[in-house]
Amino acid sequence: MNTDSLNLSDLYQLIWKKIEKAVVSRHEAWHLVTVGTVRENEPEIRTLVLRGASAKQGSLWMHTDMRSPKCRDIEKAPQGSLLFYDPNDRWQLRMKGVFSLDSKSDLSESAWNKTTASARRCYQGPAAPGTPSEEIATNLPSENVEPSFGRENFSRLIFTVSKMDWLFLRAEGHQRAQWELLSKEVRGTWLNP
Ligand SMILES: Cc1cc2nc3c(=O)[nH]c(=O)nc-3n(C[C@H](O)[C@H](O)[C@H](O)COP(=O)(O)O)c2cc1C
Repeated sequence: MNTDSLNLSDLYQLIWKKIEKAVVSRHEAWHLVTVGTVRENEPEIRTLVLRGASAKQGSLWMHTDMRSPKCRDIEKAPQGSLLFYDPNDRWQLRMKGVFSLDSKSDLSESAWNKTTASARRCYQGPAAPGTPSEEIATNLPSENVEPSFGRENFSRLIFTVSKMDWLFLRAEGHQRAQWELLSKEVRGTWLNP
């Protein structure tokens, strides 16, 4: 993409459009996001599927199992980061912000209702994710599990963005920009890459 004539505001909107596209298309590289939390003062990263985004609210969300260790991280230290990279357009996006869990809202309920039976199996295993097992394990539920079982383990993992950093890798010279999402405005600046 030719970004040379874009201003910071247009670019900011384009980035959110790309995020929104990645929510609905699993073929988009940004459909998978690297999620960083803080665990006992050390960084922890893992891959999650991007499930939703709101440019207006400056937030993105994923789905997770409430029993997983990352949820304990967030309860103790909500600060974290997200990382996206798309090798097709060579856009990297780094975000700083805070995480919160939403397991009870109507949005969470409707997200659970939209999950397929196969996706639900991730939330229906008897053991909490990350707990030790005496042998190699899949932690799948029994075949006759109730379809509604596992709802109590399901949560939206919401990330509210405070800072966004865009990097475009180009042979003719890289480009970089950053935005701070303040309560009343979004303040952008170009950076030397
Ligand atoms: C391609 C891919 C997609 C994944 N999607 C999710 C997801 O949407 N939600 C999730 O909780 N874990 C997902 N995982 C598993 C996480 O990376 C991680 O292993 C798990 O959530 C446990 O993380 P924790 O121990 O830090 O809590 C995915 C893993 C891969 C490789």
